Amino acid sequence: MTPNIKPLVAGNWKMNGFRNSLSELGAMTAGYDIAMRNRIDMLLCVPATLIFAAAQEALGTRVHVGGQDCHFNQVGAHTGDISAEMIADSGGTAVIVGHSERRTDHGETNAIVKSKAEAGLRGDLLTIVCIGETEAQRKAGETLDVLKDQLDGSMPDDSTAAKVVVAYEPVWAIGTGLVPSAADVEEAHGFMRNNLTDRFGDKGAKMRLLYGGSVKPGNAEELMGIANVDGALVGGASLKAEDFLGICAAYEKLC
Ligand code: 13P
Repeated sequence: MTPNIKPLVAGNWKMNGFRNSLSELGAMTAGYDIAMRNRIDMLLCVPATLIFAAAQEALGTRVHVGGQDCHFNQVGAHTGDISAEMIADSGGTAVIVGHSERRTDHGETNAIVKSKAEAGLRGDLLTIVCIGETEAQRKAGETLDVLKDQLDGSMPDDSTAAKVVVAYEPVWAIGTGLVPSAADVEEAHGFMRNNLTDRFGDKGAKMRLLYGGSVKPGNAEELMGIANVDGALVGGASLKAEDFLGICAAYEKLC
C-alpha cells in the first residue's frame, strides 16, 4: 500500500464471458457496499462484446467497466479493432493496454502500447499500462532492466495519477498459480515508483501501481501489504463474484 492512495481492484475477464456471465457482475455490484466503496475502487474489464451490457448492469453502482485493448486511432479502416472512444461510447470508463498477452499474441511493441495509452487518455479513459518480465528474463537477472525499458517506452508523456495506472504482471505468474516472493514484488514496485517519480514528479509519486499474476483471495492480503502495491489486476479470480469480492475484502481490511 501507499499512504493516501485509494487502491484499485481491477478484473480482466480476457476472452471469457457471455451475456449470462453478467450475473457475476450483478453479484459483484451487490457486494460492493458503502464501506468497500469508500476504501477501494472496483473495475471490471470485459470482452468488447460485453462492454455496453456490463456498463448498463453496473449503472449507478460505482463499479467501473472497461475494455481490454484499444486501437490508437479514433476511427478508420482497422477491421476487428475498437477505439478508446468506442469504449467510452459503450459506457466504459477504462482500458487495459500492453497486456503481455497482447504484446506476445499481437506483437505489440512499447511504441504501439504507448500510442494506445495515449489513445486511452484522449478518450478520457482510466488507462492501465501493463508491464512485466518473462521467466527467462527473470532467470537472467534482467527484471529491472525490462521494467525500465517498458516504462520508458510505454508510458504517455502526459501521464497523470488520476488517469494512468501501471500494472506489474510478471508473465510467468499469469495464470500459473505462481507468485513472486514479497521481497521481489517490493523490489519491482519500489523500482517502478522511483522511475515514475523521476519522470513525472508528484504525479508519479501518486500513481497507482497494481500487482497482477495469480492474485487470489488467499494471497491478496499479503500482496496488498507490500509497499507501493496499490491494488491488483486479477484474471481468473475475477470471473466469479465470490473470489473477486474476497480479494476486495482482503484489501478492505488493510485500508
Ligand atoms: P491471473 O490472475 O489469471 O493470473 O491473470 C492475471 C492477468 O493477466 C490479469 O491481467
